[in-house]
Amino acid sequence: MQQTFKLRKFTMNDLRSVVHINMVCLPENYTDFFFIDLHQRFPETFIVAEDNGEVVGYIMCRMELGLSNFGFKGLVKKGHIVSVAVLPQYRRKGIGEALVSKAMEGMRLYNAKQCFLEVRVTNTQAISLYKKLGFQVTRTIHGYYADGEDAYLMSRELKPEKNE
Ligand SMILES: CC(C)(COP(=O)(O)OP(=O)(O)OC[C@H]1O[C@@H](n2cnc3c(N)ncnc32)[C@H](O)[C@@H]1OP(=O)(O)O)[C@@H](O)C(=O)NCCC(=O)NCCS
Repeated sequence: MQQTFKLRKFTMNDLRSVVHINMVCLPENYTDFFFIDLHQRFPETFIVAEDNGEVVGYIMCRMELGLSNFGFKGLVKKGHIVSVAVLPQYRRKGIGEALVSKAMEGMRLYNAKQCFLEVRVTNTQAISLYKKLGFQVTRTIHGYYADGEDAYLMSRELKPEKNE
């Protein structure tokens, strides 16, 4: 299948589109300031997908210093996927996978050694996507979401090589 979308870094002109996609796709919504702040601090990991000039998906992340999600390695720099979404009519075209892969490249630029995220335990689409990209469930966080649903913490190591 011919790939019609392209990825690029978020710019402030994309704010309304990204806020819209977030509202349409996820129950976890944020203030404009939240998006702008993540863009200003971590521009390499705030990526949008464009199809025919329309923004149809995004990913935004935060770098954090925290305990290793694998074994006892002390403090490590980790890339946290805060939010990723693709408009319903553009799904299953590889956009989600491309966004996560591109964000992991950005995390390597920030010298992150691991990547992680929280996902609803019932979100089978997203869980499949992360498993395909080498993530594993490293913990269950009970009652993580505002409505009481549990989250899986899913994590993977970030080797220096691209997506290894
Ligand atoms: C999760 C999401 C971002 C995936 O985006 P996408 O562009 O459809 O994903 P891709 O086309 O790149 O799919 C990559 C892989 O993910 C898995 N996957 C994606 N959608 C799936 C589905 N409906 N059923 C089963 N597996 C699915 C598959 O393994 C797929 O690989 P394949 O097509 O070779 O089988 C999208 O479904 C979405 O926006 N969901 C709502 C928001 C959300 O849940 N975000 C994640 C919060 S943690």
